[in-house]
Amino acid sequence: MSLSSASAFAILGTGSLAPDRVVTNDDLAKLVNTSDEWIQTRTGIRERRLAGPGDTTTGLAAGAARAALADAGIDPAAIDLLIVATCTPDLPMPATASLVQTALGLPSTTACFDLNAACTGFVYALDTAWALLASGRYRHALVIGAEKMSSALDWTDRTTCVLFGDGAGAVVLGPAPAGSGIVATKLGAIPGTSELLLIPGGGSSPLAPDAPRHIKMKGKEVFKFAVRAMDEVCRDLLTPRGLAPTDVALVVPHQANLRIIHAIAEYLELPHDRFFANVDRYGNTSAASIPLALDEAGKAGRLRRGDLVLLVAFGAGLTYGGALVRW
Ligand code: COA
Repeated sequence: MSLSSASAFAILGTGSLAPDRVVTNDDLAKLVNTSDEWIQTRTGIRERRLAGPGDTTTGLAAGAARAALADAGIDPAAIDLLIVATCTPDLPMPATASLVQTALGLPSTTACFDLNAACTGFVYALDTAWALLASGRYRHALVIGAEKMSSALDWTDRTTCVLFGDGAGAVVLGPAPAGSGIVATKLGAIPGTSELLLIPGGGSSPLAPDAPRHIKMKGKEVFKFAVRAMDEVCRDLLTPRGLAPTDVALVVPHQANLRIIHAIAEYLELPHDRFFANVDRYGNTSAASIPLALDEAGKAGRLRRGDLVLLVAFGAGLTYGGALVRW
């Protein structure tokens, strides 16, 4: 199946960075009443990387970005747009993007901002960067997903602390080599669902001055939303273009839970191996999860020139989004 036209901008390079510290399920079983067996059976997670004392969202983002720039062979001076997707910024202000700009030595002509769409953040940022490049006002964009989720967890709450990890992934977007490029994106959000997944405190709301500053989640409701929303967004990207799920060489989904990934595979009637998964080694790294997975998929030889690749995510908001890319 061919597409009528390829877009003018493509992912030119990928990079990722995770903290060195590996924390296994058995390690967490020393903190909360859980077990390796429970976590693996319900989520597929075996271990995650957690930030050490020197690790920051900015540091992880900058490390992933350096690797993506090297992979793309693009000089940092050519980057005129930088978007960092994160819900765990180092500071309320300035934006993490400004700190990353300094760390990378990007020029003063680079537009820098953060974007928060929680775990859907990278797909939102990719869509935003693509639109800004297509406007003709920018030429090369660095799009980063970076999180220090460990800073937003209640380490006494077994229903959430076992699920998340820290890390960063980045891509460089620029003029597409012939035949490759972003084909389509789709974003959305469901009103009235914010209480299903949130950090209630730490913001400016006068309504919740003492609310906890860590993640609260209604896991079962989020699970059902995730499967339905990701199945729908995949179909919405494929069907209008005369494409079937079987035309997709690799799906790189948000890495929250292996059972969610397998459920989407069943809905789309695709074999499990058509989905890239590294949730077993990283847990849910929120906005970092797709670019981190994309980078590992590339290094594992799973992304071949001309392949149709589908990125799909869900997250707090509740938000959802997908991107169809000709590699
Ligand atoms: N270890 C051991 N037991 C645990 C546990 C843990 N870490 N966490 C919860 N449990 C217990 C619960 O307390 C409950 O016990 P009870 O039956 O005595 O009340 C039991 O396990 C079942 O809990 P339940 O919430 O029904 O499990 P589940 O099958 O729905 O799995 C999730 C829980 C969180 C793994 C699952 O709902 C999920 O993945 N949801 C999506 C979350 C997500 O992706 N969030 C990120 C969005 S970007």
